[in-house]
Amino acid sequence: MELTFDFDTPIDRTTSDSDKWRKYHGKDIIPMWVADTDFASPPAVLEVLRQRVDHGVFGYASPDPALKPAIIDYLKNTLDWSVRPEWIVWLPGLVCGLNVVCRSVGRSGAGILTTVPIYPPFLTAPDNSGKRLQTTGLVLQNGQWRFDFDNLRRSIDARTALFMLCNPHNPTGRVWTREELTHIATICLEHRLWICSDEIHCDLVLAPGCQHIPLASLSPEVAERTITLMAPSKTYNIPGLGCSFAVISNSGLRQRFKKAMAGIVPHVNLMGFAAALAGYTHGGPWLAAVRNYLLHNRDMVFDRVNALPDVHMAPVEATYLAWIDVRRTAIQNPGRHFEQAGIGLSDGVHFGAQGFVRMNFGCPRGTLKQALGRFEEAFAGVPHPE
Ligand SMILES: Cc1ncc(COP(=O)(O)O)c(C=O)c1O
Repeated sequence: MELTFDFDTPIDRTTSDSDKWRKYHGKDIIPMWVADTDFASPPAVLEVLRQRVDHGVFGYASPDPALKPAIIDYLKNTLDWSVRPEWIVWLPGLVCGLNVVCRSVGRSGAGILTTVPIYPPFLTAPDNSGKRLQTTGLVLQNGQWRFDFDNLRRSIDARTALFMLCNPHNPTGRVWTREELTHIATICLEHRLWICSDEIHCDLVLAPGCQHIPLASLSPEVAERTITLMAPSKTYNIPGLGCSFAVISNSGLRQRFKKAMAGIVPHVNLMGFAAALAGYTHGGPWLAAVRNYLLHNRDMVFDRVNALPDVHMAPVEATYLAWIDVRRTAIQNPGRHFEQAGIGLSDGVHFGAQGFVRMNFGCPRGTLKQALGRFEEAFAGVPHPE
């Protein structure tokens, strides 16, 4: 029997302490910025959380012994990646993980390289750790975002210690291919760089024909130099519960990572652990349904955005985020411009790219249609560039 889930009926989040909805409280602005969706989590996740609340005691917690095996099975079955239990290090969030990675490798002042545009915490984590941010641009080739390998190579200097990869990529939605990942890994190995691979969006591959490949699964040599960051938070829409993990097969590197966390990084809370186990164990049908729903949202966004003159977005292969190029319009401050038109988007400047906005389309289709109507109207008074 096929299970059905209702993603169409809006759930009022205005009184639920939601960051996304609180930002525009009392204003007629549809929030489409921070990366959570407006959907309820899988029924199995809700059920286990209810049981915890009904139990009534919220003391210190450690994960159910079944959680690591559930994650290991999940990674094997969905990504064909074999992970050992001792490689998994719990984290209360992946931004925390990005910052711990930057503290774990390289001396003070060492370079940390990433590609822009990129999820903003990649840009701030190096400086937080007394390291130096180095960036190199992704390029649009035949309508698709790609690495510029020559530039990337040239950006590496003698003090570069770490490359930070985002796969699938926020904000462009790319799912890097095996060929692209192999090229990146080869460059990193040649220069003896450590690699941080943020794979938080790996379960939200939407495009038929695309497949997420964990960077560390390429070869044991690549795994030796890689810290992979993962979480059930985007997968089952539970980012507010703060359960994430790093996968580190190199024991020396893992010890350095744990040392950088020691006494500072708090434990994962019991709700996060419980929700993660329920999601990885029973969330499959819900996840398949939400991916299908997001795929249709994605197609609607793609068609309507690209129908506008001077506006462009590349196909989104994964995530529920559309990276929209408005550089060819006369819009000066895109974030503010679209807020004035009644939609709250993320401005590209925070991602290291001016003239772009990121639209979160993880919402009921009715809300999306309304938002796209406002997006189109926002161009009404904008003069065409010369
Ligand atoms: C690539 C990426 N990494 C990390 C995070 C945030 O992770 P967390 O909420 O666990 O800190 C996000 C959230 O949008 C993200 O897109």
